[in-house]
Amino acid sequence: MDDYLTRRGFMRLAAAGSAALSWLGARRAPAGFVAAAEKPALLGGRPAHTGGWPKWPEWRESWEGEILKILRSGRWYRGSGPGHVSEFEAAYASLLGARRCLATASGTTALITSLYVVGVDAGDEVIVSPYTFSATYNAILINKALPVFADTDPDTWNMDPASIESRITERTRAILPVHIYGLPCDMDRINAIAKQHDLAVVEDACQAWLAEYKGQKCGTLADLGCFSFQNSKHIPSGEGGAVTGNRDDLLDRCHAFHNCGRATGGFQGSGCFTRGSNFRMQHFQAAMLLQQIEKLVQETEVRRANADYLIASLEAIPGIAPARLPENSRAVWHLFPMRYDAEHFNGLSRAGFMRALGAEGIPCSSGYREQYLDGMLDEAIASRGYQRLFSAQRLKDYRDSFHELKGNQQVCAQTVALSQSMLLADRSAMDHILDAIRKIQTHSADLAKAV
Ligand SMILES: Cc1ncc(COP(=O)(O)O)c(C=O)c1O
Repeated sequence: MDDYLTRRGFMRLAAAGSAALSWLGARRAPAGFVAAAEKPALLGGRPAHTGGWPKWPEWRESWEGEILKILRSGRWYRGSGPGHVSEFEAAYASLLGARRCLATASGTTALITSLYVVGVDAGDEVIVSPYTFSATYNAILINKALPVFADTDPDTWNMDPASIESRITERTRAILPVHIYGLPCDMDRINAIAKQHDLAVVEDACQAWLAEYKGQKCGTLADLGCFSFQNSKHIPSGEGGAVTGNRDDLLDRCHAFHNCGRATGGFQGSGCFTRGSNFRMQHFQAAMLLQQIEKLVQETEVRRANADYLIASLEAIPGIAPARLPENSRAVWHLFPMRYDAEHFNGLSRAGFMRALGAEGIPCSSGYREQYLDGMLDEAIASRGYQRLFSAQRLKDYRDSFHELKGNQQVCAQTVALSQSMLLADRSAMDHILDAIRKIQTHSADLAKAV
């Protein structure tokens, strides 16, 4: 094919201006080329996508019979007897290849339980990814420990294993990697560091149902794994969560902790032999989850195929960097993140790029902010408890260290993300996403002036 009509040739020409574009438009133009030459929707052109996107969550009438049966039975909580909750636990463990699963009220309570059970105590430190939902920080804070932030690798969006060791102190008890957006962390490197320093590892797999690292599912790669089934998740029950793992001793203790400190299987009348809380899942939530397992499996493959398709084209667009995965791993794309570099878009700001994409009918978000600056941690370390548990110098050094998270700052400043349900649309919708980005790049100088 004529070099002018290859992708690279196109990108060079795109920068050369509209005269060259119209000349080429008269020749055989590849798909996407014509769209790129069109005016962006924000400047009055036709939107690249007008078809809407799959709605989330989805409810199917065929699921209702099972839920009604439970509601009418009056046996709603797991202490009413064996039923859907334990059935779901068995099914989810089997889906993941885990020995055990404990259903919980939420992902947050799964994390609180797991950290408690691996021995995180007041005054300890936990090394955690800063690029995550605030619940990950909160689970550490509620155990009265200090969330110490590893840096984020801007290419993977995940904890950079190279940044862990310098954060370890004599107080460090555990590492809490987060498979953010369903992108698996480099668990071999994280587990090796943990082993060397005798630390526990809990995976925050709250966005990583069925994600795989070297042939094993996320949530089975460390001491314990935690999942969320909240409304927005790939397998939702409004609220809900799970702890997974391969060690009976740890899972027994998780069970006790989530059930007021009773021994596994104990309910009313049983003694409470350990500390605990009520973090139990209800039967109707478990019934909702059981009915969605097959759907999760099928939709995961659709998201993966569409993500692969997008990545193959996006890698050729200068200034757009999709996520890099660890070798031999498979993501599940709770969001589909890209790093946006305004330099390759004539200085068009990220906010301007997102507005332009939105106008093309492609909704997007900017991912997580630098949440450690939002006040939650300032409030925690100013509290009487933390002031008692940590020296003033430690807390000052800790607060100062937030400004050293250069990789995380970059990711927070550059992320543009598509939602998981968009990856369930058909292939032509993926082409529209690509067309829109190319179109914006071609006209980025005009857009930069307009926004
Ligand atoms: C990475 C991460 N961790 C923890 C949680 C907490 O889960 P939940 O909302 O079920 O408590 C979430 C949920 O949004 C999450 O995305």
